[in-house]
Amino acid sequence: MQIRVWSKMAKQPQANPSTSRSSQPGEHGVFSVAFSHRHLLSISQLDQNDIVNLLDRAQAMVPVSRQPRQDHPPLAGKTQINLFFENSTRTQASFEIAGKRLGALVVNMALKTSSINKGETLIDTAVTLNAMQPDVIVVRHASAGAVELLSQKTSCSVINAGDGAHEHPTQALLDALTIRRHKGRISGLTVAICGDVVNSRVARSNLALLGALNVRTRVIAPRQLLPAGIEQLCSEVFTDMNEGLKGVDVVMMLRLQKERSSNALVPSEREYYHFYGLNEQKLKNAKPDAIIMHPGPMNRGVEIDPEIADSERSVITEQVEMGVAVRMAVLDALLNKNTKAMQ
Ligand code: NCD
Repeated sequence: MQIRVWSKMAKQPQANPSTSRSSQPGEHGVFSVAFSHRHLLSISQLDQNDIVNLLDRAQAMVPVSRQPRQDHPPLAGKTQINLFFENSTRTQASFEIAGKRLGALVVNMALKTSSINKGETLIDTAVTLNAMQPDVIVVRHASAGAVELLSQKTSCSVINAGDGAHEHPTQALLDALTIRRHKGRISGLTVAICGDVVNSRVARSNLALLGALNVRTRVIAPRQLLPAGIEQLCSEVFTDMNEGLKGVDVVMMLRLQKERSSNALVPSEREYYHFYGLNEQKLKNAKPDAIIMHPGPMNRGVEIDPEIADSERSVITEQVEMGVAVRMAVLDALLNKNTKAMQ
């Protein structure tokens, strides 16, 4: 099933800008606000309270993640299957570590040796895995909508780890957590999302999340890398990077998605870097304390200057660490409905 990725997304209603932390864990580390969803398929399915709830749970998971050994891990006895039909280094490892740190039995499907290569359909694969009684299946797939389809054929929870150019909800949550830890808030900030927007599930999930939290979002890209209707989904659109970066609090760079033929849409990587690569000179337009983000993997020298990527203002490796905390929080929120959020 293919779903139309950009046109389906409605602009989020403006949220209360004062909301930054509303679902604090109370006594015994139990969240008063339950997470009511069975799956995490998209940011668009969540409202502002759901998002803040997950961010607060993830914040509480950071120390748990740093000190992983526990006597009574909350997901002991639960089974998590990671089903990645697309290449992944950090996301798959991050979900695996998150599940294991919470005590789940984690199974990584080796797709190169699985029956998918014998012609089994996605639905047959889902039904087969479901018969093994997992509690959650984490899925990455090249087709937008494939993860939602799979969720309709299983009786367990399903988490979308990226479906085509549609959504990548845990990436947007980890980006938001990283921003909140650096800026102390999210609402009221100005965030620039720069680069290959048309092919980016990261951009799409981030625009949904930031829109729900009343963030001013700027999208910066050459015309050919902007999806039709993008003006409806963000506060401002720029094709000039120097203009677009003026006064922003956060610069979020996107990878040029060569596997989705994005490089055919630009004259050359050299020219792309000249106009849209983040370097010291362009960064001078942003606020002096602006942070630099990238979901990885990076094309150094294509969308970002290697020195900028490694500079003090870069929070790229912290994003990776927050990814584990966010995935722990999401697994815990979906699988452990009663108590939760250990501190
Ligand atoms: C992103 C993805 O796969 O969508 N990466 C990731 O999850 N770490 C972004 C990208 O591949 O460019």
